[in-house]
Amino acid sequence: MIRTGKKLLVCGSINMDLVVRVDTLPTPRETVAGKSLAEVSGGKGANQAVAACRLGAEVAMLGMVGTDSFGNKLRSCLRQEGVQVDLVGTKEGPSGIAIIPVDKKGENMIIVVPGANGQLSPEDVDAAVAAIEDAGLVMLQLEIPVSTVLHVIRICKKRGIPVILNTAPVPEEFPGELLGVDLVCPNQKEAAAILGIPTPETIEEVNHAAHRLIERGAKQAVLTMGGKGAVLACKMPDGNIATTWIEPYPVQAVDTVAAGDAFLGALAYRLLDSDSLEMLERASLEDACRFASAAAACSVMVPGAQPSLPKLEQVHAMMRRNQVS
Ligand code: RIB
Repeated sequence: MIRTGKKLLVCGSINMDLVVRVDTLPTPRETVAGKSLAEVSGGKGANQAVAACRLGAEVAMLGMVGTDSFGNKLRSCLRQEGVQVDLVGTKEGPSGIAIIPVDKKGENMIIVVPGANGQLSPEDVDAAVAAIEDAGLVMLQLEIPVSTVLHVIRICKKRGIPVILNTAPVPEEFPGELLGVDLVCPNQKEAAAILGIPTPETIEEVNHAAHRLIERGAKQAVLTMGGKGAVLACKMPDGNIATTWIEPYPVQAVDTVAAGDAFLGALAYRLLDSDSLEMLERASLEDACRFASAAAACSVMVPGAQPSLPKLEQVHAMMRRNQVS
């Protein structure tokens, strides 16, 4: 896929995260005491937009906030970060909210109430077609209606605009057409849900799952494995599928919220920034995944979603410390 545009368009969710610190995550029917409560800007779409922007990418966000007090706060946080917000609309009702308990090991669970994100419609996308056409790369997740995501994919396909789809969270009905993108990025659990297989745990199992995602229609796949790194699978010109394990950076995690978003935003930044116009070829993708892995490692060392997303110098420092150029 050859494109010269340098702008990233993220079409996705914008949430207010209500982060509760706990010693141990509750199990069903258990009550645990929270240690603190914080309101932090989040949402997978917004986080990925901020992640790429903080590194230096030009980013526009297409999304929806509500008419509650969070709506304006969320929009102005994005604007302050330098994300273009002309395409962030307002719908009557509440903004998206995520309830996120985080334990002392940095593990979390997330409940998302979509609010305005659930009202981002194909018609809203049509109203933003000029911005989509202006993009060098479009990034999507699944916290907005699937019909809207499919609509964006179809528009981009017609115009030859590359699309990255982060498959979080996997909807109950996962239409196969969602895999018809240039790069699909699930984590292990999402890959299992999409493919209807047990969660792949070993590198071999993850390689196999990545192969299957390509056989099902994805041009390339990156399967993230948290602290165990990621697997990149690329369809080669001879039709074979080549896989590469992207080693993780050894860091002490305090909070893994938005680590995946840090990875995706950094991946998009690096692909757009690379001199190679063949941005979704294996070599560029390997390089971008290593860079993205360093960004994710930086993000788990800081609490919160958007507060944890690193600047370019921090990612470079992480790579230097681990001798990756
Ligand atoms: O990926 C982390 C994000 O998931 C949080 O910011 C939360 O809003 C949910 O969307």
